[in-house]
Amino acid sequence: MISIEKDIERVLISETEIAKRVKEMAAEMDAYYKGEEVVLACILKGAVTFFSDLVRLVSFPVQFDFMCVSSYGSGTSSSGSAKILKDLSVDITGKNLLLVEDILDSGNTMSALIKLLSSRNPKDIKLCCLLNKPSRRVQPITADFSGFDIPDEFVVGYGLDYDERYRQLPYVGVVKPSVYKK
Ligand code: PRP
Repeated sequence: MISIEKDIERVLISETEIAKRVKEMAAEMDAYYKGEEVVLACILKGAVTFFSDLVRLVSFPVQFDFMCVSSYGSGTSSSGSAKILKDLSVDITGKNLLLVEDILDSGNTMSALIKLLSSRNPKDIKLCCLLNKPSRRVQPITADFSGFDIPDEFVVGYGLDYDERYRQLPYVGVVKPSVYKK
């Protein structure tokens, strides 16, 4: 047990369960893309672990890209706009674009991002999310490929953080309330 695990209340999704579901999701994507090339865009930072597992399981040819966005205006204004901290480097015009995200929560970040990227005229744009918190949704958005529906609990691990920590855990766990109530 690594020292940070003392802050974890319980494992929500085990390493084995994640591996099984990611493999299933890759098969769903294979069936959809049928060998066409796809730009896989990892949304930093939380999706890094999911992205690196997923890319090794799909059979269609891929280009890697990375994007970093911060959502804002989600409070009372709920504008759902996204500030780009790092943009894609690939020109997505006429290409299949698959956004790889760790969690869909309010949906503000992905809703704004999809609107923005659609204006660049990709051939197709799809969203895959490992985790989905439907009870938190503000925007009318669903992932085209979705891993697990989860309850509204504070989860970390497999890329997800609290205050930049716990991303390295190989499973998705629930943080002890004492950690964020300090
Ligand atoms: C998280 C997550 C999504 C967003 C989801 O990112 O990776 O991008 O929040 O929330 P929403 O659906 O309410 O918009 P975060 O800002 O925590 O950055 P990180 O990926 O670097 O941890």
